[in-house]
Amino acid sequence: MRAETTDMGGYTLIENAPLGARNTLRVNVHATLLAEIREATKLPELLNFPAIRQRPLLVLGEGSNMLFTGDYDGTVLAMATRGVHVEHDGDNARIAVAAGERWDDFVRWTLGQGLAGLENLILIPGTVGAAPIQNIGAYGTEVAEFIESVEAWDTRERRVAVLGHADCAFAYRDSLFKHEPGRYIVTAVRFVLPRLRAPRLDYAGIREELTRMGIDKPAPFHVAEAVIHLRSRKLPDPAVIGNAGSFFKNPIVDTATAEALKAEHPELVAWPAGIGKTKLSAAWLIDTAGLKGAREGDAGISHRHALVLVNHGGASGGQLWAFAQHVIDTVRKRFGVTLEPEPLIVGADSQ
Ligand code: EPU
Repeated sequence: MRAETTDMGGYTLIENAPLGARNTLRVNVHATLLAEIREATKLPELLNFPAIRQRPLLVLGEGSNMLFTGDYDGTVLAMATRGVHVEHDGDNARIAVAAGERWDDFVRWTLGQGLAGLENLILIPGTVGAAPIQNIGAYGTEVAEFIESVEAWDTRERRVAVLGHADCAFAYRDSLFKHEPGRYIVTAVRFVLPRLRAPRLDYAGIREELTRMGIDKPAPFHVAEAVIHLRSRKLPDPAVIGNAGSFFKNPIVDTATAEALKAEHPELVAWPAGIGKTKLSAAWLIDTAGLKGAREGDAGISHRHALVLVNHGGASGGQLWAFAQHVIDTVRKRFGVTLEPEPLIVGADSQ
């Protein structure tokens, strides 16, 4: 069946839409309907169509944190809104950014404006609207720290909601938006960024990289460059091989459990994670279980980084999900720790 496209002014509707180019794991599935929205003010009109109201809805940014295990029998809402609005406020800038802007383009723009804060988060795939949902983080920084509020369409109350930082319940790779799935459609994110801020260099590898670059007093753009070098060396590029970044969260366990594991495996990689809790390196667990670079058909674990599930070409969503289950089972049997996937798993057999 051919994909039928209708332009509605402010949004486009595509029936039987292929999603292979819209998810970075490159899974070739179809959605019954794809609605690409360019004007957020059209959301209420779009969501009011009976055919859309009565079926499941999935919001998609760049599809960089999602695994489709099969065709999507419902509407995929692709956020394609654009716009950055900045107000200068003494030593800070307040910036409102449309959900459909690319995250990495936005980070580069802030650096060009002489703003600090987001340099450790450069090169993360995805859209601005997706950033607060899983509270993206890398190299010792989480985005939540710079978010003042999130503007969303509340599908339950059918009105625009502005959620302040505290309302968003941010935590490690987590937020309110994950706890109430389907309720909010993020339309814009408001950031507060400082002009001056001590660079955050504590995460392993950053200082060494800056030294290698010959920089001793790093400005934010130097830190960004160091992060680009580190990420490019360690993480496979989704433009080259299908992947969704870290596929597993670093598990948080009781410190007593972590200590027992450490007694058995002195090389265990772990970090304190609040009172009585310890965060374990999922990459270390997977690597030590012998799964780095392993594959079954075209589904596998990257040989560059043990946290990254990869599609070597023709793996289906079901095959990728089955391989992820194999990783979870193997790590559970070996260490007694249950890994959880970090991306959203979309499809009937994942519920
Ligand atoms: N390690 C291994 N084998 C590997 C890779 C790493 O044993 O193949 C061990 C190393 O000992 C290393 C430790 O795991 O010291 C941690 O590795 P890394 O510094 O690469 O960080 P990570 O905990 O694996 C997290 C984020 C990444 C983020 C990096 C850098 C999560 C789930 N992942 O990975 O985020 O880029 O830190 O800050 O928290 C993402 O979320 O998509 C993502 C890429």
